[in-house]
Amino acid sequence: MTSNIVPADPGRVLIFDTTLRDGEQSPGATMSHEEKLEIAQLLDEMGVDIIEAGFPIASEGDFRAVSEIAQLSKSATICGLSRANFKDIDRCWEAVKHAKSPRIHTFIGTSPLHRAIPNLSMDEMADRIHETVTHARNLCDNVQWSPMDATRTEHDYLCRVVEIAIKAGATTINIPDTVGYTAPKESAELIRMLLERVPGADEIIFATHCHNDLGMATANSLAAVEAGARQVECTINGLGERAGNTALEEVVMALKVRHDIMPYTTGVESTKLMNISRRVAAVSGFPVQFNKAIVGKNAFAHESGIHQDGMLKNAETFEIMRPEDVGLAATNLVMGKHSGRAALRDKLRQLGVEVGDNQLKDIFVRFKDLADRKKEVYDDDILALVRVSDDATPDSLQLKDLVVVCGTGGQSAEMTMTVDGVEKTAKTTGDGPVDAAFNAVKEIFPHDAKLELYQVSAVTKGTDAQATVSVRLNEEGRIVTGSNADTDTVVASVKAYIHALNRLIVRREKTGTDAREISYKDAG
Ligand code: KIV
Ligand code: ZN
Repeated sequence: MTSNIVPADPGRVLIFDTTLRDGEQSPGATMSHEEKLEIAQLLDEMGVDIIEAGFPIASEGDFRAVSEIAQLSKSATICGLSRANFKDIDRCWEAVKHAKSPRIHTFIGTSPLHRAIPNLSMDEMADRIHETVTHARNLCDNVQWSPMDATRTEHDYLCRVVEIAIKAGATTINIPDTVGYTAPKESAELIRMLLERVPGADEIIFATHCHNDLGMATANSLAAVEAGARQVECTINGLGERAGNTALEEVVMALKVRHDIMPYTTGVESTKLMNISRRVAAVSGFPVQFNKAIVGKNAFAHESGIHQDGMLKNAETFEIMRPEDVGLAATNLVMGKHSGRAALRDKLRQLGVEVGDNQLKDIFVRFKDLADRKKEVYDDDILALVRVSDDATPDSLQLKDLVVVCGTGGQSAEMTMTVDGVEKTAKTTGDGPVDAAFNAVKEIFPHDAKLELYQVSAVTKGTDAQATVSVRLNEEGRIVTGSNADTDTVVASVKAYIHALNRLIVRREKTGTDAREISYKDAG
């Protein structure tokens, strides 16, 4: 067996990040090419062992992203996903082959429900697994195989197909809990059972890949590690379809903080977690829930009197890890309208954000505008400005002017927008000011996209707080998310809506199938 794939240290857990594949597959979480490269670079610098960079057969865009990430990666192994057929596997190899350390990941659904989709008998599927893993292994010496829906696959059949994959040359066997159905005890027992029953199991790495439908993904992953799995598949912020995947930051910090009872290590530099979490939230348009473990904005906030008192006497009273451990700088330097550009750059650095001169200029203009309207500009306000400024989507549609009337007498909006440089105006009414303003956008730029999500949250406290708004649109399966922040909630809402429409215009122009439009039913 290839020794470089199995770490020498038996307590070392490999971190396999799938933010750019399983995470990006989440409806609305689409990232641009540049955003994918940026996230891959941050993952690589943070010490992630394996980056699953995409699904190369899914689209030209996915192929290009995986192959560029493969060429740019400095230390992580770069992996691509492929279904169980030669065409997928060949395309995957084409994309990853220039990486310093490439990996092919191939999968097929093995549970009764999934076997029924390609309509293969147990024997036929076993043959398919043998052929496809052998083919992958002839191309690449690092091959991962996954029996999709493993946790609902008959144990005897699971042992049989895992043995076939190992004999065909798989170096990592991933056990996915595809629908988030398992529980910690069962997750551990499954890995233990495979290690005991499958010949050759001790020579490969077992991976655990959990989804969070019952809120147990992290617990299930850690239980699998205790039973012998040595690779955890996860995503930043737990991004992923439905309730998401196991959150990388939770696994890394759980193993670090509770090393006393879980004596395993990862190669992840935990002080980089906060920054990458913010970047993934910004580029995916999926905000992090306030009380999310490790990276939520309340994770280290102690507001109740009794907590604050205890914290002042001894931080360990209520804190099991220090904010610095996850890269949360303890900076309370509040910015105001007299702060200059150098102070802003300094503040951004403290927050882990590096920007070029042009972006700094843009953020500074927005910052001054905000500081004129808001007494104190906090760290979160500044991060919201960064999120707004860092999208390179061409803005065919722009808001020029908006006047909204609201109150007990009804709501209306009068709006001027430019559409490809041409000014257009509309006057509309609606059920509330946001509805009236959205109707004006629709009148100026008619479209059939359905509004799937409209979400508002206050960035900081106080009635002058900025509102961040996320808008998700769906036009014939093309799903896009837009976001914006402003002290005026209606302005933020309209700008978020226009941002989503600008992204939709770009998506309409793109050719090729979207990764999530490739159905797992073609997995066979
Ligand atoms: O959840 C799952 O089963 C997957 C596989 C493709 C590994 O993501
Ligand atoms: Zn998955």
